[in-house]
Amino acid sequence: MTSRLPRGDAKAQAVRGMFDAIAARYDLVNRVMTFGMDVGWRRRAVGELRLPGGALVADLACGTGDLCRELARSGYRAVGFDFSHGMLSRAATSAPLVQADVLRLPLPDASLEGATCGFALRNVVDLAAFLAETARVVRVGGRVALLEASQPEGPFMRAGHSIYFRRIVPLIGGLLSDRSAYAYLPESMAYLPSTDELVAMVRDAGFPDASRIGLSGGIAQLFVGTRG
Ligand SMILES: C[S@@+](CC[C@H](N)C(=O)[O-])C[C@H]1O[C@@H](n2cnc3c(N)ncnc32)[C@H](O)[C@@H]1O
Repeated sequence: MTSRLPRGDAKAQAVRGMFDAIAARYDLVNRVMTFGMDVGWRRRAVGELRLPGGALVADLACGTGDLCRELARSGYRAVGFDFSHGMLSRAATSAPLVQADVLRLPLPDASLEGATCGFALRNVVDLAAFLAETARVVRVGGRVALLEASQPEGPFMRAGHSIYFRRIVPLIGGLLSDRSAYAYLPESMAYLPSTDELVAMVRDAGFPDASRIGLSGGIAQLFVGTRG
């Protein structure tokens, strides 16, 4: 892991401060740097929930509310949680939003039918604790869909993606928002365990059928599972 990457409380403070600072242009940069593919990835994540209409689904680390909107569009009752006031205050969603740490959700056990999370697995201070907290609040039979960035497997795609992620994304971020925040994005991939480890972690947390779906040639990934 890169030593520049903070851990523990320092990481939580840095992450919250960074998202507070980039909130105003967050959606715009997302659309530009993914060529709009992030919209389809969120749609796929919500589609993989396969819960009955009206099911209560929390979007954890909801940011500006894109997944909440997608959940509502698909007929779910959405509620979003995030610790960045800046991100929440920019959210354009009718879902209720709660400023809270997703490692300590203000929810009773088994109170949700589903949970989603978009691009925050590498941002939490303790991924195992986050998955355990998610398992605590999702009832047996409930579903999770967790989206994250990824690296393609093939060597050519991987090399091209690495150049784009490490050189172009910070450039786009610098032009439209904050260069250092978008330099952190590729660096923060070092926080993520390997694909196999991630699947095992989701299973061990309480989602025994967890599996991974690669998206758009492997530049994004989706972990889905049913609460056992
Ligand atoms: C990359 S953004 C993703 C936002 C949104 N999920 C999306 O799909 O666009 C990561 C979000 O995770 C939030 N976050 C990171 N750690 C958190 C924590 N421990 N509790 C609550 N929110 C957290 C940040 O504030 C930020 O809004």
